[in-house]
Amino acid sequence: MLNQKQPNTFRLVQLTDLHLLAGPKEKYRGKNTRASFLKSLKLAGRLNPDLLLLTGDLAEDQQEATYTWLYQQLEASGLAWQWLAGNHDQPAVMAKFSPVNFHQQTQDWQLLGLNSHLAGATQGRLDKQQLRLIEQALNNPKPLLIALHHPPVEVGSQWKDALALQNAEDFWELLKDQPQAKLVVFGHVHQAFSCYKHHSLNLATPATSIQFTANTNKFSVNASAPAALRLIRLKPEGQFSSRLIHYE
Ligand SMILES: [Fe+2]
Repeated sequence: MLNQKQPNTFRLVQLTDLHLLAGPKEKYRGKNTRASFLKSLKLAGRLNPDLLLLTGDLAEDQQEATYTWLYQQLEASGLAWQWLAGNHDQPAVMAKFSPVNFHQQTQDWQLLGLNSHLAGATQGRLDKQQLRLIEQALNNPKPLLIALHHPPVEVGSQWKDALALQNAEDFWELLKDQPQAKLVVFGHVHQAFSCYKHHSLNLATPATSIQFTANTNKFSVNASAPAALRLIRLKPEGQFSSRLIHYE
């Protein structure tokens, strides 16, 4: 059963790319993103997560009122949650409500949330402080899940790959010889994607808002692709499983 807790398993649910707007009826590319987010939040609650993780592009309009509304929904859900900043976010405004970095220990894993927001850019970057957080986490031998907004790998769409993590080589330089770096989880690409690089399974999750067409040279929206969230089960000894749950 999807929603059943199993002993010694930490359940993480990822939501990403909400693109919320301050006006309750405003639409992002033709979609009421508040309504689609609320659907995902309800479904996430039914999955009994130990942590709800939002991997950026939360407020399309970057307005404090939008973060206020989102914060209220997350708090009202009763779930433990963390959020990360995307290129469409304002980390300084988000930080008034909740940190935009985290490093959490579970019984068998450690979870590291990074801030890849680069002011004024669509691309992302991990500054020295963020890279230092990775180094510090690697001092702990526990299996490591890293979450960030921008992909540190190419996903097969020229236009999107040009807007990914600028300094992915710095990221992989730290992780390439680290078998404990088991999972890298991100958003930004508004589509499902997975690949292995070095020791890490890299996973992108569809947006709660709208989806982009996969494997294209130019930007296009895939209006028929459903929204999704991702359930990751983190188990002892570095074992894990992951699945997408589509909800539209
Ligand atoms: Fe996005």
